Amino acid sequence: MTVAVVPGSFDPPTLGHVDVISRAVEVFDRVLIAVVANPSKTPLFSSAERIEMLTDICADWPNAEVDAFDGLLVEFARDRGAVVIVKGLRAVADFEYELQMAQMNQHLSGVQTVFLPTSPEHAYLSSSLVKEVARFGSSLEGLVPPVVATALKERFQ
Ligand code: PNS
Repeated sequence: MTVAVVPGSFDPPTLGHVDVISRAVEVFDRVLIAVVANPSKTPLFSSAERIEMLTDICADWPNAEVDAFDGLLVEFARDRGAVVIVKGLRAVADFEYELQMAQMNQHLSGVQTVFLPTSPEHAYLSSSLVKEVARFGSSLEGLVPPVVATALKERFQ
């Protein structure tokens, strides 16, 4: 059984994240969605809120689980028996940093990283831009799942 980790800040989850998770659950036996509890930037949503949104989003995938972690991703992966880290790549701009992280993670642990290209219709999405759109009260249609749109509207009311 191959266990994979899909890590991220997910502050908040976007349809780009959902796209990557939806393809990871088809490829791997078990997929752990790993929410970094304390990202470098102060998050808009607490880790409990991000976990709740992702649990709702992943409800129809029986092989997906959501959990939070602190510290090194490779330690979380090792503790949970995961051998692969899955990352989405939106554009070539993502590649340099993602490659650096993949190589560091490989150096630290030997855990492999697999890159999945984001579908073109989601390539421009990022949690930061979505928050900006929400802050100014514009439509979130096509950007985030309904549960996230509701949470963003409440947060910026
Ligand atoms: O959604 P993000 O913010 O791009 O996710 C980045 C994340 C959480 C995957 C990355 O920052 C991470 O793995 N953080 C945990 C700390 C760690 O393991 N750092 C070393 C990676 S080289």
